[in-house]
Amino acid sequence: MNAQTIMICSGKGGTGKSTTSVLLGAELARQGQRVLLIELDSGLRSVDLIAGVYGKTVYDIEDVLCGRCQGDKAIVPSPIYPGLSVISAPYEGGEVRPAPLASLILAMRGYFDFILFDTAAGMGAPFQAAAQLAEQALIVLTPDPVALRDGRIVADALIESGHPQDNVRLVMNRVTRQSFARGAPVFDLDECIDTVGVRLLAVIPESRELQLAGAQGEALPEGCAAQKAGAAMAGRILGRRIPLTYTG
Ligand SMILES: Nc1ncnc2c1ncn2[C@@H]1O[C@H](COP(=O)(O)OP(=O)(O)OP(=O)(O)O)[C@@H](O)[C@H]1O
Ligand SMILES: [Mg+2]
Repeated sequence: MNAQTIMICSGKGGTGKSTTSVLLGAELARQGQRVLLIELDSGLRSVDLIAGVYGKTVYDIEDVLCGRCQGDKAIVPSPIYPGLSVISAPYEGGEVRPAPLASLILAMRGYFDFILFDTAAGMGAPFQAAAQLAEQALIVLTPDPVALRDGRIVADALIESGHPQDNVRLVMNRVTRQSFARGAPVFDLDECIDTVGVRLLAVIPESRELQLAGAQGEALPEGCAAQKAGAAMAGRILGRRIPLTYTG
């Protein structure tokens, strides 16, 4: 086994990177994949809560990268999403350095089908480290002009640094029927794709279920619109042809 590596990024903060990382990880796992999700967002941990491992984490990614523990000691299986494991970010401090992260990935690759990096907003150390290691990048954006403009900057940076354009994909999150209504600041999904300049992978609807599940550390109810959108996103990552239908 040789895990595929995928980074989740955005530019703008709060667009749903961590939520989408857990959703993708959970749905890849539901489709039989072994998934490790590493949160690279020092001081602003949230994946532990969304993946239901809050309070179960002894070591974090900073402990691993500093050599305070072996990588496997920091891996916590999600109790709510079987097949998904998590390495949490530290509560505070720490700078993500590419070299020890690369060693960790090398050591873990054989045990997982997918390794996901949930990065921080902006293009600082977590973004740079993940960009050096990830084969694919997902840019998670909300349908507003500021997020889309930042997403373009991120997409350009990834492509200029050598990522093939086909391996950089757009995920539109928090989409509602009103997102593209007449008079909305963004006209339609085509405008999102044109602004960012990469292919669309998935559309995740605005979802109370997704928000509540993340906030309470509970599993996303099977069959809700966000779960179906996540399953379709995971299926496309696995190479299945699944039409993009909006079910929000
Ligand atoms: N599709 C969605 N429907 C409803 N709420 C959502 C959706 N996606 C994300 N959210 C909510 O938006 C907020 C921000 O999400 P999240 O923490 O995943 O963003 P982020 O991009 O990781 O933020 P940061 O840049 O701080 O790391 C959370 O309260 C989350 O529950
Ligand atoms: Mg986050």
